[in-house]
Amino acid sequence: MNATTIRIEPIGAALGADVHGVDLSVPVSDDAFAIIAGAWRDHLVLRFRGQQLSDENLLAFSRRFGPLDKAPINPYGTTWVPENPEINVISNITTPEGQRTGGLGDGEAEWHADMTYTDAPPKGCMLYALEVPLSGGDTGFDNMFAAYEALPAATRERIATLSCKHDASRNSVGQLRKGFEENYKDVSEVPGAVHPLVRVHPETGGKALYLGRRRNAYVMGLAVEESEALLDELWAHITKPEFNWHQQWQVGDLILWDNRFLLHRRDAFDPKARRHMRRTQIGETEPVLGIQS
Ligand code: SIN
Repeated sequence: MNATTIRIEPIGAALGADVHGVDLSVPVSDDAFAIIAGAWRDHLVLRFRGQQLSDENLLAFSRRFGPLDKAPINPYGTTWVPENPEINVISNITTPEGQRTGGLGDGEAEWHADMTYTDAPPKGCMLYALEVPLSGGDTGFDNMFAAYEALPAATRERIATLSCKHDASRNSVGQLRKGFEENYKDVSEVPGAVHPLVRVHPETGGKALYLGRRRNAYVMGLAVEESEALLDELWAHITKPEFNWHQQWQVGDLILWDNRFLLHRRDAFDPKARRHMRRTQIGETEPVLGIQS
């Protein structure tokens, strides 16, 4: 793939860009990759339309960004694609025998970032569309740099040194994860990783809110009521439309997003419609930096 064919076109006011002139089924040259990596840093979400990718193509492009995480274990005790355990399948499709072929079903997924309840959450994710419903199932992305910048100065000052616990016990559709029990007195006892409330970009020094997900979050050191009030205030702010953009999927779309400085969500869709996406997750090699790090 030659760098001279690439054109980057911003999509939404808040974030995102289309990358034109790239065929990801063939190896991407170093020059072309440098343009793509720079555009990803600047726009946070990149969309590559009209792609025709095998799992191997998707893996090869994903690995250019760093080592990949393995897909989570599914209800059948394996990964969805055992021969390629770094491929996750997001799908509501079942086999004629009624067996699921992927995760997340057809319901809404609330705003969240992936796996921030761990100490080393992923850097980014790719989602590639093979089958999409005629309507619904849009995926939203929310720009946490823009949301941070738009906070009142007093709030920015107040949260500068605070940190937040990210609940490990429930997933983005609210289900209790395997191995967890709900036996805590209040959210201050919920298990999960603690991260700064303001995350700093390791290359640019840009500051962004780092919230993970709302359910069971807790701002360390505050009374529970105070933590709830602060988090409610921050979540009411960040979910304003000016900070987000929603992707309406077409077959052949590949989306690459930054999991460190964005939240994402998904609209529900008709359970009778088919939606089939292949997903990879790029691991993070840098620590989570806060203002004081
Ligand atoms: C996800 O939360 O990773 C799923 C996004 C989607 O299905 O669009």
